[in-house]
Amino acid sequence: MTDHVPVVLPDAAGLHRAAELLRAGSVVAFPTETVYGLGAHAFSEKAVAEIYRLKNRPSWNPLIVHVPSVGEARRLAAVWPAVADDLAARFWPGPLTLVVRRAPHLTVAGAANDTIAIRVPAHDVALRLLEAAGLPLAAPSANRSEGLSPTTAEHVVRGLPDVPLVLDGGACRWGIESTVLDVTGDTPRLLRPGALSLRAIREVTGRVALPDEVADGAERPSPGMGKRHYAPRARLLLADEISQVERTFVLAEPVGLLALEGEPAQDTEILGADPEHYAADLYAALHRLDDRGVATIIVQRPPATEEWLAVHDRLNRAAAR
Ligand code: TXA
Ligand code: MG
Repeated sequence: MTDHVPVVLPDAAGLHRAAELLRAGSVVAFPTETVYGLGAHAFSEKAVAEIYRLKNRPSWNPLIVHVPSVGEARRLAAVWPAVADDLAARFWPGPLTLVVRRAPHLTVAGAANDTIAIRVPAHDVALRLLEAAGLPLAAPSANRSEGLSPTTAEHVVRGLPDVPLVLDGGACRWGIESTVLDVTGDTPRLLRPGALSLRAIREVTGRVALPDEVADGAERPSPGMGKRHYAPRARLLLADEISQVERTFVLAEPVGLLALEGEPAQDTEILGADPEHYAADLYAALHRLDDRGVATIIVQRPPATEEWLAVHDRLNRAAAR
């Protein structure tokens, strides 16, 4: 047991401590508007290696670089297409990650090609930390690889007990990761559905190519989109009708339910039928059911419409074995 509690408030002293750690090549967990990130100096090999070690993340999976402004983002890019400007003007700071060609003098851990993923986070604490450290910060979600992403400081500490420092900015507003969009080609390509909706992106870009439009046998477009990901400890099962499952499953083990609507009951989380509200509480609800020690979580499948794309993506990955 250690009585070192690494969680601090993001006041002047907390930010100062965090910035010092980052400048010394260590890592710090911090809140963003999507999920908590585990940040390190993006272009320090040693610092980035510490992220991979703490997360147990496979070395082929590259990280998103967080910067405080569009100007800083452009400095990391070899080519900054007009569509990136349009998207940044509309959505940054915000939950959109752009994949562009990276500046030739930069190397990025895990990136097999010549690209870089960049975003400007819309969180006061994240922006103040970027300012204070004066460094671009690589930051994946602050959880062990394949596990549930953290949406509170407490989730971070439980998942990564060895993390040196966590800035506590309360619960994350979106609760689901940023949308990742590749703008290196003629048509923007969705690599990961996320907090920012496709509808909003299309208003700026017109057509967006979806992940399943990639021809068979083509290179996997986003290295991080492995099948199993975002998973709770409990086994997760998707069902169209929860009542139907309850009747067919007579399980001799504790079962949790994650429903869209219904009556409150023990080990049941009701997240509502609005996709944004649902996403905002999804990981937290799965963390709560995990904490109650249920062996299986039965999830009522949300509607098969585009506004639920990111939620479906995360649920399908969490259910994959
Ligand atoms: O909301 C978010 O994006 C959070 C917060 C902390 O900003 N970060 C996050 O990072 O979700 P992570 O590492 O969990 O997910 C990054 C995703 C992965 O799917 C990764 O493969 C992809 O972005 N990615 C990173 N660099 C890439 C690149 N150069 N080309 C294609 N995909 C890339
Ligand atoms: Mg992640």
